[in-house]
Amino acid sequence: MEHCICEANWIGYDGEIKSSPDFICDFVTKKQVKSAEFQITAIGIYKAFINGKRIGRFEFAPGCTNYDKRLQYQTYDITDYIKDGENRLNVLVGKGWYRGRISSNWKNIHNTPCGIIASVNIVYSDGSKEVVITDNNWRVRESRILEDDLYDGETFDSTISDEELETSEKAVVLRNELSKEVLIPQEGEEVWEQEIIFPKSVFTTPNGETVIDFAQNVTGYATFSLNASEGKIIRYKHAEVLDSEGNAYTENYRSAKTEIKYICKDGLNAYKPSFTFTGFRYVVLPEKPEELDDRDLLSGFKAIAVYSHMKRTGYIETGSEKINQLFSNTLWSQRDNFLDIPTDCPQRDERMGWTGDAQVFCKTAALNYDVNKFTKKWCAELRTAQRENGSIPDTVPNFWQLKGNSAAWGDVICIMPWNMYMAYGDKLFLSENFDAMKKWVDYITGDTIQEGLWMTDPEDLKLWGKHYGDWLGLDAPEGSYIGATDPNLIASAFYAYSTGIVVKTGHILNEDVSKYEKLYENIRSIFEENFTELKTETEMVLALFFELTDSPEDVAKKLVTLIREDGYRMRTGFVGTPYLLHALSKYGFYDVAYTLLLREEYPSWLYSVNHGATSIWEHWDGVNDKGEFWSKDMNSFNHYSYGSVFDWVYTVAAGINTKEECAGYKEVVIAPHPDKRLGHLYCRFKSVHGEIISKWRYNGETCVYEIETPVKATVIIQGEEYKLQAGEHFCLTK
Ligand code: BGC
Repeated sequence: MEHCICEANWIGYDGEIKSSPDFICDFVTKKQVKSAEFQITAIGIYKAFINGKRIGRFEFAPGCTNYDKRLQYQTYDITDYIKDGENRLNVLVGKGWYRGRISSNWKNIHNTPCGIIASVNIVYSDGSKEVVITDNNWRVRESRILEDDLYDGETFDSTISDEELETSEKAVVLRNELSKEVLIPQEGEEVWEQEIIFPKSVFTTPNGETVIDFAQNVTGYATFSLNASEGKIIRYKHAEVLDSEGNAYTENYRSAKTEIKYICKDGLNAYKPSFTFTGFRYVVLPEKPEELDDRDLLSGFKAIAVYSHMKRTGYIETGSEKINQLFSNTLWSQRDNFLDIPTDCPQRDERMGWTGDAQVFCKTAALNYDVNKFTKKWCAELRTAQRENGSIPDTVPNFWQLKGNSAAWGDVICIMPWNMYMAYGDKLFLSENFDAMKKWVDYITGDTIQEGLWMTDPEDLKLWGKHYGDWLGLDAPEGSYIGATDPNLIASAFYAYSTGIVVKTGHILNEDVSKYEKLYENIRSIFEENFTELKTETEMVLALFFELTDSPEDVAKKLVTLIREDGYRMRTGFVGTPYLLHALSKYGFYDVAYTLLLREEYPSWLYSVNHGATSIWEHWDGVNDKGEFWSKDMNSFNHYSYGSVFDWVYTVAAGINTKEECAGYKEVVIAPHPDKRLGHLYCRFKSVHGEIISKWRYNGETCVYEIETPVKATVIIQGEEYKLQAGEHFCLTK
């Protein structure tokens, strides 16, 4: 297209619009239209309509980016929507991330006035063209959305008449001071309404609230279609869990109100929030609206799951119903937290792109779903947010304007591109991020007080965000979120790991990385000299998994002894847990890894399943055996981090791995490790080169293996190696 959005003007308005503004433009097509496209973005989030019809299905467009540097615009084909003659475009704009409470610390973003920029590019059948752009011909008016905020919910007044809206109309103003330099075409996956969930029950809680249970913790919104009379108010908030008395528990949402207030008109009221989402299992009506009974609510309400469009690639089914539920919980927590950016949680006043959480989960994410496009866009956000000195903010985009840059969090800039390259064989992940990776490693080199490691003065370690250590480790001192593992050891271990990734990346890209090769060797030798005694489980796990010890067998034995002495109550937190089972199985302790995977008492993965979880909890004991909550300020029931255990199930239990030198599963190694306690494991993974299947099941004392591979494979079963050709189906009983 010759014309583009860049020729349009930013428009906004002077004075007040009390509701979510509705920008309007009438235009006339003069000849027969051959094709028409619409380009748009907004300061906030928008929903666009032409002749009353919604354009596209992208929710929360234009998406979440570092708005000071990158603002996506979208291009929609509207050929089928445009009429001969008169047409009306209208664009409703909500606050979203840009102007909502979520960015209130980021003043120059948050305080930007509302605006849109758009163009309609029409090609007539005779080949002539016409462009309609945002300019002084547009008007703006009030809407029925009286309030909107991602955290706080929405207020909608359906009693406002069309005439009232029309009389509120006024001229727009041009906002030439707003930058067009930041405009970039859509990069990520679009966020869509993906699933509809019907309520399973409606009941009244002991404190008199009416609760609708969807039996699934989901991110999105609840919609309803109910008959009511004018002026009645339907008000509801959201909850993930009930407390021990059976009342809806909302304290863990902290200040996020997640409240919907809808003022009814006479007759049928059909409503869907436009500019807010939250994570919830329950819809909670503090007062039941008169005239409506439980049956009306049961048939009238629906939950809509909203997340980035990603194709499912990984399937796991085992002989344990509980592990199957845990897998379902992991898939849900991924969908619930992959809403344009990878977030820690979808419900409380946070929903941030926490880099550490994404770092620990990204490998599993790429096994479950095709996240190539999704992560590529977020890697661009990481690069954009990277500071001059190479450090990476702990949340990206950095809506809270955090100053910190923790180890294991910032390392996402090396670990995510590397994992994505391994998953898709797509070299862009490496070439686009190589400079940022090096900058991060160089930043560490310049930040340490002891060369060869990443060491920080104990006083500075107390700074919030310097290092989160083994976040939520169970060996944390009373009252602390940070586990007992030495933060300097974590920082140094990740320094080595990230430097190693820079070296491997440099080799693939044919870049000179001799400086980093030396650095890596140096870190490795100093690490062992410096951290002579590995005390905590996480310290041992990191030394083992990152290969930072010359006596791995001894360390592995020590780790196993510690775990056994603790009665298999693992102490690892966010940093150690994702690698725990890997560290054990790498040195032959498959049985211990399986014992931890299948353990049901606190702390364990299955504890939450036994307590009815439908998504992954932030804490092993979000709710304890007495029904008490962990805390109200840090207790999400939808945090994907611990779901990263499924990377172990795919790659060790089912044994599906790409060969490192054939990234993207161009050639694979399939080395399943069965355990009778799991009964069977059926695993399918749709790689970019086709579907890989690894199955095993016990038949008495023998195990039946079945493997299918679309590419050349090396199969390793109980130490024996078998070479398979592409397309081969392999069966073995042993
Ligand atoms: C988030 C975490 C995050 C952490 C950093 C929390 O509030 O929910 O998942 O990684 O802060 O320590």
